[in-house]
Amino acid sequence: MTPSRRSFLRLSALALPLTSVQKLFAKSVVRKPIVISTWDSGQISNAAAWPVLEKGGRALDAVEQAAIAMENEVNCCVGLGGNPDRDGFVTLDACIMDEKANCGSVAFLERIKHPISVARKLMETTPHVFLAGVGAQQFAVANGFKLEPAKLSPDAEKSYKEWLKKAEYKPVINIEHQQSKGQKGHGPFAPARLEDGSFNHDTMGTLALDNNGDLSGMCTTSGMGFKMRGRVGDSPIIGAGLFVDNEIGAATSSGQGEEVIRVCGTHLVVEFMRSGLSPEEACKKAIERIVKPNPERAKTFQVGFLAINKQGEVGAYSVQKGFNYTVTEKGGKGVVINAKSYFS
Ligand code: GLY
Repeated sequence: MTPSRRSFLRLSALALPLTSVQKLFAKSVVRKPIVISTWDSGQISNAAAWPVLEKGGRALDAVEQAAIAMENEVNCCVGLGGNPDRDGFVTLDACIMDEKANCGSVAFLERIKHPISVARKLMETTPHVFLAGVGAQQFAVANGFKLEPAKLSPDAEKSYKEWLKKAEYKPVINIEHQQSKGQKGHGPFAPARLEDGSFNHDTMGTLALDNNGDLSGMCTTSGMGFKMRGRVGDSPIIGAGLFVDNEIGAATSSGQGEEVIRVCGTHLVVEFMRSGLSPEEACKKAIERIVKPNPERAKTFQVGFLAINKQGEVGAYSVQKGFNYTVTEKGGKGVVINAKSYFS
């Protein structure tokens, strides 16, 4: 007999009012399999992850498929179609983590289409966790990943030419905040470019709980548009852009990576869940930790956290209005949910 069935029978025997019994029993029922991704463009990543989970596959395989789907998008903030750095090169950051605390990360990786699969290869075939730059690229090529042409996508080229007119190194409030002011934002088929064809930056993160009850996650991005050459954000950093603890839950982030790194954001979210908070409460407390030292500065950027716990409960919270996420479970249809925010 499963523990949840046993506890149900025990509670029934106490002859509690049925509603209370149902409530307590419902809490012990795990919501799985389930996959959640940052943004409404998470409909693309979840659609790629779901067939894996539906067949009883591993959460790790599901989140890798989610990342690959986004990295294939030609006009997105993720993958080689993203905006370049200020010297005109697209550099990619990604990481992946499984239920046994295995993890792999790549940063400042150029001309490789699927950084997530390089991160997984690193995790599964070497004693290392993190490779950057030329070394990451060499590792990828040595493992059969194709070196793509050093060429910007047509949209990225247009954005870059536009940016070069002023060439101001001034990270601006990113897409998520602009979106809340009524500009074009994410959407399943139009991810992340502003009206003028540009976007600043953001990131795709996916977390999955498989039928076996195991958690995994991924985070992938081309990072902040027109960033300083060599700049790396939170996305490839375990504990910042992604953290998975199979006993407790998992979290990922999107938005201005510097702010997430400062507080070890996703590790913090998981630790708040460990102390008993729900995923949404945990994300909210981590956002408050970011805002508190300098609320004025916090008005100028966006960060969103997304989390799931071992029961399959999910939640998110952001600094600015406009952050959302996609949930896919039984039935396979992605449902988009708006996150609450610190500033309204
Ligand atoms: N969150 C992505 C970045 O800051 O690069």
